[in-house]
Amino acid sequence: MAELTHFYEYFQPTNYNIYLDINRGIKQFSGQTTITGNAKAEKIALHQKYLEINTITVDGAAVEFTMDNDHDAVRFSVPKTGEVTIVVDYKAPLTDSMMGIYPSHYEVNGEKKQIIGTQFETNFARQAFPGIDEPAAKAKFDLAIKFDEQPGETVLANMPEQKVENGVHYFDTTVRMSTYLVAFAFGDLQSKTTTTKSGVKVGVFGTKAHQAKELDFALDIAKRSIEFYEDFYQTPYPLPHSWQLALPDFSAGAMENWGLVTYREAYLLLDPDNTALEMKQLVATVIAHELAHQWFGDLVTMQWWDDLWLNESFANMMEYVAIDAIQPDWHIWELFQTSDVPSALQRDATDGVQSVHVAVEDPAEIDALFDGAIVYAKGARMLVMVRALLGDDALRKGLKKYFAAHQYGNAKGADLWAALADASGMNVGEIMNSWLEQPGYPVVTAAVENGKLTLSQQQFFIGQGQDAGRKWQIPLNSNYAAAPKIMADKQVTLGDYAQLRDENGQPFRLNQGNNSHFIVKYDATLLQDILDHLSDLDAIDQLALLQDQRLLAEGGQISYADVVPLLTRFADSHSNVVNAALYQVANNLKKFVTPDSAEEKHLQALFDKLSAAQVARLGWTPQAGESNDDQLTRPYVLSAALYAKNAAAVASAHDLFTANKADLAALPADIRMFVLRNEVKNYGSAERFEQLLTAYRQTSDASYKADIRAALTSTTDPELVQRLISHFEDADTIKPQDLRGWYRGVLANDAGQQAAWDWLRNDWQWLEDTVGGDMEFTTYITVTAGIFHTPERLAEFKAFFEPKLNTPGLTREIKMDIKVIESRVNLIEAEKAAVNQAIAQA
Ligand code: BES
Ligand code: ZN
Repeated sequence: MAELTHFYEYFQPTNYNIYLDINRGIKQFSGQTTITGNAKAEKIALHQKYLEINTITVDGAAVEFTMDNDHDAVRFSVPKTGEVTIVVDYKAPLTDSMMGIYPSHYEVNGEKKQIIGTQFETNFARQAFPGIDEPAAKAKFDLAIKFDEQPGETVLANMPEQKVENGVHYFDTTVRMSTYLVAFAFGDLQSKTTTTKSGVKVGVFGTKAHQAKELDFALDIAKRSIEFYEDFYQTPYPLPHSWQLALPDFSAGAMENWGLVTYREAYLLLDPDNTALEMKQLVATVIAHELAHQWFGDLVTMQWWDDLWLNESFANMMEYVAIDAIQPDWHIWELFQTSDVPSALQRDATDGVQSVHVAVEDPAEIDALFDGAIVYAKGARMLVMVRALLGDDALRKGLKKYFAAHQYGNAKGADLWAALADASGMNVGEIMNSWLEQPGYPVVTAAVENGKLTLSQQQFFIGQGQDAGRKWQIPLNSNYAAAPKIMADKQVTLGDYAQLRDENGQPFRLNQGNNSHFIVKYDATLLQDILDHLSDLDAIDQLALLQDQRLLAEGGQISYADVVPLLTRFADSHSNVVNAALYQVANNLKKFVTPDSAEEKHLQALFDKLSAAQVARLGWTPQAGESNDDQLTRPYVLSAALYAKNAAAVASAHDLFTANKADLAALPADIRMFVLRNEVKNYGSAERFEQLLTAYRQTSDASYKADIRAALTSTTDPELVQRLISHFEDADTIKPQDLRGWYRGVLANDAGQQAAWDWLRNDWQWLEDTVGGDMEFTTYITVTAGIFHTPERLAEFKAFFEPKLNTPGLTREIKMDIKVIESRVNLIEAEKAAVNQAIAQA
């Protein structure tokens, strides 16, 4: 392949005038794009993909052009460098790939309908119009859209509509922005709108398959998030409106198009009267994430995709900062601790993982950069360290400067560090580069050696790892003043332990609050001291303790059997974060037991012991006015009781099912999944199965859909498993965007694993054709590796994926996932006997 260059070097657009005529009937559109800009060379190229170009004129004269599809390009010459006007006339298909301009399919009252929408990040704007489709190539856009319009349809775009003439909708000129943020949509929509304190119009839009009240929650969160950011960033929201649009078909979770944010329906719309708190929190953080991007990402954009973290890590941190400010009673940082933190620590422990900042050129590799656990979770964790070091005052001062300096332009990581250093007087860049540029993270060993308390750092691996001697600048957050604020050396000695212990009057601890990206390995003396004072730890520190023990066990640094006895010590906690960590460890034990064995019986007995008192305390149905902790804890303990086959729990769930048979959707959303799953597993029948599958097809409530999916995928009937798999490629039942959840569900089910794995291998090509090219695709590999744990499956996995190692975008994932399964298989082999003995004795 020829060297990849940035087309912006040769041509710099200042304005695009885009006219599109879209015909849903024949799934095609024709376009005329007029670009004015500055040619830096006579030979230039525009990005295009799947465009059938009729003519190109430069300053009014037709030119010859060459299509270079290998590089998503059309190449031609301009008569002179300097200011030119290029007009491209073309047509192109509407594809069902959820990229470019694409239809979303849905049904209202049995009638099949469509919404046309767009998805241009990372590089799909080139499927809609020719141009320089690179983040640094910012320009202004004038959009005009005509389509086979029906009465009552709504058209939305980044900017407000200016006029309609001869059926053509003209929109106001945008501000200077990147191509990947251009968006529009049309169809038969419903909406609710409001206005922020500063006068920004905020709206939520969705199809009419939803109840009007499903728009309310999002509208409130969106409005208050924008108000929060205007204040926090000290920079006004720069556009007249902020639309949030739920699209029935959507490849990512949500997309921050400037002024027209698009979402998966599940991440925007919800029934305010029956949705679990956990789901409300998730939706709120997604909205806050995309709205954080309206400044960080949209107003100031990364120069090139290698600095993607600048967009995503930042938005991922800000979603928590914002929701914590507007909904303080949720303690939303706890969600960060139970979701982002473990995913970052897990993935970042595998050798071969990417660093947060990664060099990238090939468009096929760009989407593979969006490793959620690294670019989002680890990156956010990194910025949480920055925030803790700087404090909010300096952070806000720095951000305000950063926006002022780069607004309507681009920036690199170093520009952010410079602004923050300026505001704080601290060399943040130097500290952060050790986290940004290096993959992995350290385990800090705290030990008493010859009477001295000593700390040392070393890269932590789960599975085989090459120690490259990496060092990090670690904010230690110790409770002993003798520990340095930042540990930059490989090893430090803090002094005489007995004396330090005496002076401090409490056990020695590191990473209080669990806000730094490292884990701690205390020696036996130090760990026992902490365990003897367990009740002095707050919930997050208890979570961190359990989590670190689990990771150390997975990394082979301690025995898993030693972690098992810890569980009962935490089982009575009323804190949802402690229960989250507890059940993460407990659920991880399942891989050590053979299905339907005596071992499994012992593990079930342990689960019963862990959950019984909590189930009795909390009961099956949510009580009015109960605490958030109780609401969030209930699902963990009910799930545990059902795994334990606790007879009373099984009967209660069955009773709830029977009592609500006429309207299963009305079961309390917090427990609905467990009731349905219990029914399918323990009282299943083909009729019940079909009834639930029909409900799945018909409901527009995403939470209810997810509950039904969890229930159906847990069937133990081989015939029903086959029936499920026969629907995997039937988009009228399971939309491609939702398929991964179904695949995961069946694969995780012992009775379904073989069938799901056979399906993946046999229909890999279908999968590639259907979801390939977007980031969902690789995650089918990740999901598979997350479940497999036997030598046989490892061998099959290798046999299937190793020949695909050279596929662009898959290489790293396959390599890492082989390691992931390998290390799990080895762990089980080494520890199985000891772990099962510990389980039997717990
Ligand atoms: N910019 C991303 C969406 C995106 C990612 C589009 C990769 C194309 C390629 C958006 O801001 C985002 O981060 N979405 C997340 C959800 C978010 C709330 C964590 C997603 O889609 O998973
Ligand atoms: Zn994002």
